[in-house]
Formats: sequence, structure tokens, C-alpha cells
Amino acid sequence: MSVREQLGTVVSTLEGPSPSTVSFVVNNGKAHKGMFAELEYSEGTMMLLVEDVLKTNRYFERPDSVKVMGEELERNFPASEWEFLIAKARPLGVFKDERILRTTFPPSPGIKVFVADNEKIKRFLGLEEEGLNLGKLQFHDVELKLNLSKLLQKHVFLGAMSGSGKSYLVSVLLEELLSRKKEQGAIAVVVMDTHGEYTCFGNPIKSDSSSKFTDFSSKTRIVDASKIKIACSKLSPYMVSSLIKDISPTQKRALANIFTKLSSEMRSGAGPFDLSAIKSEVELLDNEKTQSSLFAIISELEELGLFSKIDEPSIVDFVKPGQLVVIDLNDVISEKKKQFIVAYLSNKLFHERRGHSKKIPPFALFVEEAHNFIPEGTASEHAIARSYLRTIAREGRKFGASLVVISQRPKRLDTTTLANCNTHIILRITNPYDLDHVSQSCEGLDKSSQNIISSLRVGEALIVGEAVNAPTFFKVRQRKSAPSRHESTLEDAARAFVSDELKKEDEVNSFL
Ligand SMILES: Nc1ncnc2c1ncn2[C@@H]1O[C@H](COP(=O)(O)OP(=O)(O)OP(=O)(O)O)[C@@H](O)[C@H]1O
Ligand SMILES: [Mg+2]
Repeated sequence: MSVREQLGTVVSTLEGPSPSTVSFVVNNGKAHKGMFAELEYSEGTMMLLVEDVLKTNRYFERPDSVKVMGEELERNFPASEWEFLIAKARPLGVFKDERILRTTFPPSPGIKVFVADNEKIKRFLGLEEEGLNLGKLQFHDVELKLNLSKLLQKHVFLGAMSGSGKSYLVSVLLEELLSRKKEQGAIAVVVMDTHGEYTCFGNPIKSDSSSKFTDFSSKTRIVDASKIKIACSKLSPYMVSSLIKDISPTQKRALANIFTKLSSEMRSGAGPFDLSAIKSEVELLDNEKTQSSLFAIISELEELGLFSKIDEPSIVDFVKPGQLVVIDLNDVISEKKKQFIVAYLSNKLFHERRGHSKKIPPFALFVEEAHNFIPEGTASEHAIARSYLRTIAREGRKFGASLVVISQRPKRLDTTTLANCNTHIILRITNPYDLDHVSQSCEGLDKSSQNIISSLRVGEALIVGEAVNAPTFFKVRQRKSAPSRHESTLEDAARAFVSDELKKEDEVNSFL
């Protein structure tokens, strides 16, 4: 074992040392907020998390004398020798006989404090060699390798303001999930990709090039959501009413009858039906009023250009262990259509997994811009996908259906879903309303960690909850996959635009 790096000595203060707080004066090196420390005492090895560090100097305690004496103070007295760094730490637990116990007894003042041993940190946080590697702990040479189940089984919330590195971190997580071997347990991954940021996973990397990027294209399936078709037979009157506002109970009943009829005909061999078949059935109705309103409803459905005889492609067939399906929603202009696709696919995935036949492997469903799909307090007709995603958040755990909810506006995100996410990964957030919302739904997040969140830099993150046993700050590792075309800066985009224009001009000139 390496030589222990001494950090300081426990001091006696008004509050401690107690089982819940221990302060120590730093007499060697530096203590930082968010660092892990340890000490030996009667109960075993105590693990500590530094929650705050402050400097004191008794020479500068009195404003009046500091003002009067000014620089004289430092010239005539050994003032700088009286500067101390005090670290305030929270005991996290005690290692005793290879077990981790709750802290119930304080260490004595005067006991030496050390930088925590890397192996102990790993054990304490429950990290494992074969875990998902998201990056490196701050202040310690320890990789954050998380246990798959502990991270995903009870869902993850990934929140931060725009541009702080959410999608980058998601890419890192996707890489880890796709790189798992079968014997380690590989799950299927589906991403609802609102801006087409993950389509780059499907691009092959030329084998001759000396690219530093890893090729994930053989494990990735990109689905252009604007071309998705959904089988009419899978539509329920409930789904139709979520798509069409103000549908009356009479209309709903008439529609339900038509669906029942067509479905039973389908089962007895007539084959799948489409919207025109439904239309023909409406023509047979004798109530003119219902008839005309149903025609209007059907033409509204036709406008979405989403319904057909069968599901195309059959996305469930792509859901395989260790494989990624990216639903690229970038070209879907209609908000309603986007919502419906997310709703339909989420529901379908969950049911295929939940059913007795378990047609698909355990999966993780990533939802980008989740505040649009699982919003708080919006009328349900504007949030078609919400109830389906909520169901996964509530019941998915039992069936191996995990949700990863990604949002830059946590304040606008459904509280119920947020509360069901047992691991929170938070990057930089400065908006106080968002910070407040996140803190409320996140039990392990103490006041001191909240303060750090607003000062995090791009790519720095805090992870709290089920996946780790203590709030942990880490730096996201470098990605291995090629970045998406969205990565370019405004300058790059502007230059690319101009050079495209020039190229076009050249083409026109050479043509003339
Ligand atoms: N860990 C990191 N290391 C290096 N660069 C990073 C890291 N994280 C993010 N970046 C860079 O910061 C920029 C913004 O990152 P990203 O697109 O992931 O932010 P975001 O939180 O998803 O933003 P938005 O909410 O707008 O989608 C990108 O150019 C990305 O390359
Ligand atoms: Mg993003």
C-alpha cells in the first residue's frame, strides 16, 4: 500500500467532532471542497467528505485594528504564520472488518486526517473494475466506474443548463453501454434524439484513416423518425383522443366500434387496415353529425402522415443487447407527431418487455429534451408521451426497463418522474429556480453541494443517489466516438456557410 498522504488534525469546535461533523486543521497540502479524507480511530477507519474549507487568521479578525494597522500588521507581527485552513467534513461511514458501518461515535480532537486511500474510495462508492466508466473523480486518481444496475435500474436524471455537456456525457455513457461484453450483461439502448445529435454513432469511420475515434456503426441503427409509420390497428381510441382535441364521447364510442370491427376482421384473415379503411367504415354510419366530425378527425390524422397498415420499420426488431437504436426526431416538424412517436414507441417498448414473452432484452430508454415530453402541469393533450414515460419511471425497475431523462429545464419537468429517478447527474446549473427544483427532488443533495453546482465548468459533474453512496464530483472522460455535426462553434458554422456559398457561385460560373 502506498504511503498515506497526511492532510491535517482534527480540532475541537462548537459542533464537533461529532458523528455528523468533523473539522480538521490542514497542516499539509491542500484540502478542497468535495475531497474524500479518512482517519483511524477506535471504531475503525472513518471515511469523510470535505464539505467546506475556510481560512482563518486571528490577526485579521478585528476590522478596527486591521484598518488602523494596515500594512504595519504584516511588517511587525508574524501574521502570515497565523493563517490556517480549516476543513469541515461530513463522516460518511466507518470501515471495520471489511464492512462499512454507519458512524455513531466521534473521533477525538487531535487525531490525524489523511487523504482517502483510492481503494477505500472505490469500495465506499461501490465502484467496480468492470463498471461504466464516466470519468475521473476530482482530487483523486480514481475512475468513476459505476455498476450498471445501480446506475440504471432505478432510472437516471441528467440535468444541466444548455451547453454544459449533457449530450457529451450521454455519448460517453452510450459508448460504455455499447462496449460491454455479453458476459458482463449488455442491455439494449434506445435514444429519443430530438436534434439528431447521436446519429454520428451510425457513421462508419474509414478504416484506412488514422482516426482517433472508435467506430460504433456496426452496433448502431439510425431510424429517421420522419419516415416512421405506425399501424392503424395499434391505435386505440384513447390514443386518438390524445392526438385530437375536443373529441366527444359519442365520437369516441363510434370510433371504438369501428376499431373493434376492423380488428376482429383483421384477426379473421382480412389483413391489417389503414385510415382509408376506417374512412369507409365511417361512410356507413347513419348519424350524419358524427360522420362528418369523424371525417374531420381522420383527415387530421392523415395530415400527420404517420399511419399505415403496419409498423415501418418494426423498431422492436432492432432492440438487441449491446446495440443502440437512435430515433432521429430532427426532421419531424410537427410537435404533435414528435410527441406521438415518442409516446407510441415508449409504450411499445415497455409492453414488449413487460409481457410474458419478453420479446426484447432489458433496455435503457434515453429521452433528450425531456421537459417537452414529460412536462410538469401541462394539459395532457400537449403531453401525449407523459403518461407512458411516467409508467416506465414508476414500474420499469421490475421489468428491466430503465429511463434516462435529460433536460436543461428541470423546473419544467414532471416532479413525479423526477422523484422516480434515483440517480441524479448534475452538471452546471445557474438558474436558481432550476437549482431549487433539482435540490427538492434529490435527497442526497446537501446545501454545500448545491452551491458548487453553479460554479461547475463544462464537463464537470456531480453524481448523487443510488449509483454512488455519497455525492461525488467528477470530470467527464473524453469521448471515443466521433462528435456530431452539431459540435461546431458559431465561427465554424459561419465560415462553412460562406465557403458553401462560394462553392455554389463557382459551380454557377463554370456552368455559364
Ligand atoms: N467533458 C467534456 N470535455 C470536452 N468538451 C466538452 C465536454 N462536455 C461538453 N463539451 C463541449 O461543450 C459543448 C456543449 O456540450 P453539449 O452539447 O454536450 O451540451 P448540452 O448540455 O447537451 O447542451 P444543450 O442543452 O444545448 O443540448 C460541446 O461543444 C462539447 O464538445
Ligand atoms: Mg444536448
